[in-house]
Amino acid sequence: MAEISDLYDVLVIGSGAAGLTLALELAPKAKVAVLSKQVLKEGSTFYAQGGIAAVFADEDSIDSHVEDTMVAGAGLCDEKAVRFVAERARTAIERLLAYGVGFTTTQGDNGRTLLHLTREGGHSQRRVVHAADATGMAVESTLENKVREQSNIQLFENHVAIDLIREGKTGRCVGAYALDRLAGHVRLFRARKIVLATGGASKVYLYTSNPDSCSGDGIAMAWRAGCRVANMEFCQFHPTCLYHPRAKSFLVTEAVRGEGGRLLLSPGGERFMPRFHKMAELAPRDVVARAIDHEMKRLGLDNVWLDISHQPADFIREHFPTVHAKCLEFGFDMTREPIPVVPAAHYTCGGVMTDLAGRTDIPGLYAIGEVAYTGLHGANRMASNSLLECLVFGAAAAGDILARLDATPLPPSLAPWDESWVTDSDEEVVVSHNWDELRLFMWDYVGIVRTTKRLERAKRRVDLLLGEISEYYGSFKVSNDLLEMRNLAVVADLIVRSAMARKESRGLHYTLDHPELDNSKPPSPTILSPVNAQFAPSIGAE
Ligand code: FAD
Ligand code: SIN
Repeated sequence: MAEISDLYDVLVIGSGAAGLTLALELAPKAKVAVLSKQVLKEGSTFYAQGGIAAVFADEDSIDSHVEDTMVAGAGLCDEKAVRFVAERARTAIERLLAYGVGFTTTQGDNGRTLLHLTREGGHSQRRVVHAADATGMAVESTLENKVREQSNIQLFENHVAIDLIREGKTGRCVGAYALDRLAGHVRLFRARKIVLATGGASKVYLYTSNPDSCSGDGIAMAWRAGCRVANMEFCQFHPTCLYHPRAKSFLVTEAVRGEGGRLLLSPGGERFMPRFHKMAELAPRDVVARAIDHEMKRLGLDNVWLDISHQPADFIREHFPTVHAKCLEFGFDMTREPIPVVPAAHYTCGGVMTDLAGRTDIPGLYAIGEVAYTGLHGANRMASNSLLECLVFGAAAAGDILARLDATPLPPSLAPWDESWVTDSDEEVVVSHNWDELRLFMWDYVGIVRTTKRLERAKRRVDLLLGEISEYYGSFKVSNDLLEMRNLAVVADLIVRSAMARKESRGLHYTLDHPELDNSKPPSPTILSPVNAQFAPSIGAE
């Protein structure tokens, strides 16, 4: 067990695939602290089902992976970033295999054991490496076991980062304050390099496939510290979450459609996706989610139905044991009948702008994984490219950090958190009320289908909430709920402003007021810069 200190070479905020990959790459040479809001494994990574995209099949190629990603991204992917990731996918999987991740395998023609590859929306080839339908659990558990073996990695579970700290003279990031949830006080962490690996922000919507930790903390912290963010309007809705009041938007993996699942208007009713796209159920996710939303609104349905019962029962149980068991819990046997599904917020395509080493606008600050905008996803992330992004950028950022660490001075001594001027909250209801209100209007006004009027309505409400929360934050001691609420309001504001700025429909951003692509100019990302930033934002300025 390493000694507890407030000074590290690298402070990693977040313990999903991105944060833990990075920590493991750093550990042989650097003293690392990893913060996690709850227990280590609680984050999107653990719940990932479908898999990780990588070229392994003989008939597949890097060019094809790049091409499919660019098509799904609707003209907004940065080809350099896409190629960077696709080219490193195989190595990333091999690293996980070496760690001991038990991916699903199959027997090749010559009797050799091969990785089993499944298919998901947007992929023209079988290219998704997986561990049955619980890939995230296999990956996260293995990474967790590995980091727990490293004496150079100090783990801080139940520590919620509040804000980043910049050095006055140079502007470099030198630390962060974090709430120790169990002890109830705020600690100071200092480090030579700081990495945000805090995941996405889908909890800003009422219905989401994401766990509770996904409140966009890293995006909000980076924004407050002076980083630019990009493409925040592109919020991905997963087409198929289980529709049941107690299922909390449990995801039904796209691989069910990859293995032949069909979307129906009612049990035994019309299969509708062929009316919307030539790839039917395997069209890119935005197309499928919008088609479902359209049909539900047109016909006044509560849900549509996903049917894979034409496949042999053994095949279903073998490929989808998690989904099958969960559906049974709610009374649906997917081997015999269709299951009810609805779309829910799933993935934040935008985020903190970085270069290909994960460096942000702030010297010493990196962002990796779902918190980041690297240019990989464009206007719509292709399925199974996000775990891959975590693995590739976790390793890339670690390489960059190690190359610079010796030349990076120690952080200065910093003031501890001062709460002498705040009191315990006497009105918790303000947080819970604002929380519900925010997530509901984001769902209703800034969801799958948008209009200018709805966005303007949302903007007025966000502005009110930002004012109210800032006043509340200035008066009361911090709690996890208050911190998340404060961050969700910032993220909602960034989403709404980005959506208002995009006067066209592209990828995941669809507005009835501008239903077509704007082909009058070359497509470009929506970039927001913090006003009053003390230092002009510029990526990798070290
Ligand atoms: P996460 O895994 O979300 O981890 C974030 C970490 O940051 C957590 O440890 C959290 O505690 C910590 N954190 C957050 N805020 C703070 C704070 N303020 N202070 C301290 N710590 C903080 N992608 C695929 O490629 N393939 C799939 O099959 C797939 N399936 C998915 C299924 C589901 C149900 C979901 C929700 C997502 C799925 N995705 C999938 C998306 C993918 O899982 C995520 O994009 C990816 O796991 C994000 O990893 P991450 O490391 O960036 O963040
Ligand atoms: C799924 O399994 O459908 C999720 C895949 C992803 O989000 O990449």
